[in-house]
Amino acid sequence: MVSLEDLSGLQTRAEADLAEASTVDAVDAISSALLGQGSPIAEARRGLRDVDPDERRELGRAISEIAEAIEAVVDERRDVLAAIERAEHLAADRVDMTLPGRRPQRGSSHLVRQVWEEVVDIFTAIGYTVASGPEVETAYYNFDALNTPPTHPARLESDTLYVEYGDDPEGVLLRTQTSPVQARWMESHDPPVYIVSPGRVYRRDAVDATHTPVFHQMEGLAVDDNITFADLKGTLAYFIEQFFGPGARQRFLPNFFPFTEPSAEMHTSCHVCGGSGCRTCGGTGWIELLGCGVVDPFVLETAGYDPSQVSGFAFGVGIDRLAMIRYDVPELRYFFDADMRVLEQYR
Ligand code: DAH
Repeated sequence: MVSLEDLSGLQTRAEADLAEASTVDAVDAISSALLGQGSPIAEARRGLRDVDPDERRELGRAISEIAEAIEAVVDERRDVLAAIERAEHLAADRVDMTLPGRRPQRGSSHLVRQVWEEVVDIFTAIGYTVASGPEVETAYYNFDALNTPPTHPARLESDTLYVEYGDDPEGVLLRTQTSPVQARWMESHDPPVYIVSPGRVYRRDAVDATHTPVFHQMEGLAVDDNITFADLKGTLAYFIEQFFGPGARQRFLPNFFPFTEPSAEMHTSCHVCGGSGCRTCGGTGWIELLGCGVVDPFVLETAGYDPSQVSGFAFGVGIDRLAMIRYDVPELRYFFDADMRVLEQYR
């Protein structure tokens, strides 16, 4: 049985404990230890039923007074600490309304993608259709259908990335050029053909200033009645003027590609010096831009066309190369590193 003397000490103990408490949680813990279940106050109240009825009333009132007094100091201390905690919370959460806002970064097209779309637009404006083909390609479309003999060095594993598929270790590959789209398109469409086909191509190249194992090309193919090399020259002159601006000149040098005969590489007058010679063109005044030629009859025939009825021209141009030349980007790899300091300059 708890005595009245025991209880009178409680209030002093409560005040001492509460003075030490520094958080609302600590106050609540003290409160439940002194007043809650199993506390001295609760025990005293339970003991009342054994007390003589005469004394019970008085003792009961005394217990209540002590309990109320303790509750009062608990509430007072809780209010003080709650106010402090609230103030600290507000200070920590403070928002400086005068700070400038943080803008989310908006994405934008990569420079290569911008050039890709621009060159495609230049050709669709004169009636070309956009064609596409698979990046994982068969050796048949990448080489055989394009008149590339089994012994051609481009087929070597040192140049081409082969994909393990089926029994033939050299049957499936990552396309090394967009040219296979020519063969695929002609196989499934009758002439006339006017297509461009932009896309990713792969070669087994080590990374340096002008090589990466993946890059972008755009293939062009025109097949119709009586297409000649003159049509090729006229079309590419239009393309160059649209892309580099008026005044750019072209020259064609003999070259060899298995799928065209004759084949040529086209150079354009340097857009930086206009042809007088500078660092960009290595002093020559010319920049090598693309490969092209008159479609070899074998390629037409393999695709099911009659070379005595139709003829065509084709070209393949590096999209990354066009971007590097026009924007004077010194390293091809900049296009493949996700370095925002570089990419942001071409938004
Ligand atoms: N496919 C060639 C390459 O990757 C580029 C090319 C040259 C494409 C001549 C053509 C062409 O269509 O006629 O180097």
